[in-house]
Amino acid sequence: MPENSALQNINTKKFQQDLVGWYEAEKRDLPWRRERDPYKIWVSEIMLQQTRVDTVIPYFNRFMEQFPTVESLASADEDAVMKAWEGLGYYSRVRNLQSAVKEVAERYGGTVPSDRNEFLSLKGVGPYTGGAVLSIAYGLPEPAVDGNVMRVLSRILTIWDDIAKPSTRKVFEEAVRHLIYKEDPSSFNQALMELGAMICTPSSPSCLLCPVQNHCQAFEEGVQRELPVKTRKKSDKKVRIGALVLQAPDGTVLIEKRPESGLLAKLWQFPNMELPVGINPRGALASYMETEYGMTVQINPEKVTDITHVFTHLTWEIDVYVGTVDVKVQKDRTAFVPAHEIETYAFPVSHQKIWKHVKGMDQ
Ligand code: ADE
Repeated sequence: MPENSALQNINTKKFQQDLVGWYEAEKRDLPWRRERDPYKIWVSEIMLQQTRVDTVIPYFNRFMEQFPTVESLASADEDAVMKAWEGLGYYSRVRNLQSAVKEVAERYGGTVPSDRNEFLSLKGVGPYTGGAVLSIAYGLPEPAVDGNVMRVLSRILTIWDDIAKPSTRKVFEEAVRHLIYKEDPSSFNQALMELGAMICTPSSPSCLLCPVQNHCQAFEEGVQRELPVKTRKKSDKKVRIGALVLQAPDGTVLIEKRPESGLLAKLWQFPNMELPVGINPRGALASYMETEYGMTVQINPEKVTDITHVFTHLTWEIDVYVGTVDVKVQKDRTAFVPAHEIETYAFPVSHQKIWKHVKGMDQ
């Protein structure tokens, strides 16, 4: 047994009963909870990483209509898949998912592997996703520890390790291996998630409503608000960007596809550049269009809006300009697109906002 003394004190059977009993009675009716198909559970878990349940629900339903099986996603057009994910963010999640699903189709005959090593070897499947899918879809007693589960268990067991450190996850996985309800690992893991979402929330946990209050060491000691311990990450980097919505005489608009790898890979965007401190944005954008695209452009004097987009480690501050070009020059990754077709391309949220603003200006 691990050393944590709260783990030694806890009445495991009673804890399991109280937790899973509450979950069975109170759980939210979520679309993926009506499913046992490992593929569908897998998609839901990927969508739920870094994205709220309320946001995920309509995406999940649409995605399942469009790509109901491993085979349908494996053979889908990549741009269509990106379009279905548009707005969910963290797009490498869906690119990895499609690669992994292709591997499942080719190597495992379309059946999501239930073997831990096989499933974890797939692209984008880490210990959390692995544990979640294997427990929820296959009923295997595997831990599924994400930030929410760490918060819940840090309180129940008064675990003071820093959850910002990657190595800390193992401490919690050990605890789950000890506590998990072997008769129903799916409900046990989802009950921990549900408790984190509904009761044991980050800043003001509803301890008086908590089904496992009796088992909670932090409640007993009155330290639930001090847990979990999470060191602050370094301040985010800010990048100032100038973006240009450029119209040709025939009314088409210039867009380009982002590179094959890196941030927001393969999504479409309006031409843009990082603006060094102190530079005149219009002048910089005009000479950028000249050198990178071979086009002489006219840019309206005033910026039309600015847009801030926060990533995990980076913030974009985008100054948006509009302009015109008399002669269209095509390059490999660019396209001049009729305005009414822009929305059929997959854009990052920040560039969707640019388009929304510029489109609104015409009316
Ligand atoms: N968050 C992560 N996985 C979840 C699930 N299966 N249900 C609800 N919220 C979740």
